[in-house]
Amino acid sequence: VKKVPRGTLPLVAVDRKAPKPLHKQIYDAYRTAIVSRGLRPGQQLPSTRALATELGVSRIPVLNAYEQLIAEGYFETRLGAGTFVSSSLPDQLISSERRPDRANAIRSGPRLLSRRCASLPNWNGFPSFPGAGAFSSSEPAYDHFPLHVWSNLVARHSRKLRVESLHYGNPMGSLAFRETIATYLRTSRAARCEADQIIVVSGSQQALDISARALLDPGSPVWVEDPGYIFAKQVLTTAGARLVPVAVDNEGLDVAAGIKQCRQARAAFVTPSHQYPLGVTMSASRRLQLLEWAQSLGSWIVEDDYDSEYRYESMPIASLQGLDRHARVIYIGTFSKVLFSSLRLGYMVVPPDLVDRFSSVRLSMDLGPPDMYQAVLTDFISEGHFARHIRRMRLLYAERRSALVASLHKELGPRFEVLGGQAGMHFAVTLPPGFHDQEITVKAARQNLCVWPLSPAYLGNKPRQGLLLGFGNTAVEDIPANVRKLRDVLSSA
Ligand SMILES: Cc1ncc(COP(=O)(O)O)c(C=O)c1O
Repeated sequence: VKKVPRGTLPLVAVDRKAPKPLHKQIYDAYRTAIVSRGLRPGQQLPSTRALATELGVSRIPVLNAYEQLIAEGYFETRLGAGTFVSSSLPDQLISSERRPDRANAIRSGPRLLSRRCASLPNWNGFPSFPGAGAFSSSEPAYDHFPLHVWSNLVARHSRKLRVESLHYGNPMGSLAFRETIATYLRTSRAARCEADQIIVVSGSQQALDISARALLDPGSPVWVEDPGYIFAKQVLTTAGARLVPVAVDNEGLDVAAGIKQCRQARAAFVTPSHQYPLGVTMSASRRLQLLEWAQSLGSWIVEDDYDSEYRYESMPIASLQGLDRHARVIYIGTFSKVLFSSLRLGYMVVPPDLVDRFSSVRLSMDLGPPDMYQAVLTDFISEGHFARHIRRMRLLYAERRSALVASLHKELGPRFEVLGGQAGMHFAVTLPPGFHDQEITVKAARQNLCVWPLSPAYLGNKPRQGLLLGFGNTAVEDIPANVRKLRDVLSSA
């Protein structure tokens, strides 16, 4: 039985002027709620005193109603704990009318949804979820997160709570946090930004959504990388944009192809540091071409820089935003990969003249981010824990990545090519002809392997069959056994 918060008062209304006595009204209200399953067996009830106060009546009618409900078996008392709906109510007492099921709901008449909503993929169709096994591509090494440091900071900030902390915060995010982020981005990502251009968001996903709402109209053509990030495409679909899939080669998004397909696109959504999912880094000449296209056509570039902290064979690459001299780039970053995803904190850097419009869009969505974790993270960064964590993880992931590449090579051989393993926490492995990635993903999930299929990431170009493998969440010593499991899945496919 699910616990109902203690003291939650059920909806019991009494009418003092009605001819029905008060105790009978209370009794009837409870009986009806139990029979119709509004109150469930085992659920705790308010004390007679609390209910009398809430209803504005004396305790006597409430006591009478409770006594009768106990006598008839609807309520039971537990010594020292209070009064509960009986946990063993006979079935015939309870209405057989359940929540309307799917079929009933569908038969009830037209149920019109927006075309954009109806065209989104169904979540039930995803073969596995993050956290469900080895090689999950979106998971960092949670077991190496400095939880004790984090908990101490959370405790410090919980103790410091003041009445002022309870007000609505700054809708853009706390100034101290934005200043810390701006310093980090200028230093580590060569971004050109000041704190007043930063909007704190609940992860990149919200930043993508804000960008789409601020920049696009229904029907606006927008370049997306093909293959690309499925959740960016969902945001764009929901915004009613016209998605123009532009091929990705070993230099990143093919700008010339984009221009050929749709020169006048309103925006390009890209992952230049570590293309998702193929893992290539956009070359310098493509970056310049993209910026030039945006400037000459008056278009926008949305740069999703989701995992650029980790590069293994070269120094981290500067952001595209840092190269932009015409304020055409909206830069998006997240703490999901570098810290942990349930934190739901990310940021965007908006060109100075668009800050006002973007913050209005943000305000229309949720009035601003919660304060507490911004304060915790500000300290986590300024006290040096963030930089230390990144340094430690870079070494750990480099080790895990090499172990995974070596093990794949040993167990699968050269027919399975590793693409884009120079950065981030995942890479793609191509499958030779005859293999179907979605089928393999489903079979692998049964073996507790959380691999993702590559082909659904394509929209327009001929899909390549492949698997996305994360190496962030799988320890070096667990890699060989899990790769052998994958090999067995592949040989049975
Ligand atoms: C391309 C890309 N962008 C962004 C994210 C992170 O999203 P969020 O910051 O909303 O957790 C991911 C996570 O997997 C990603 O793959």
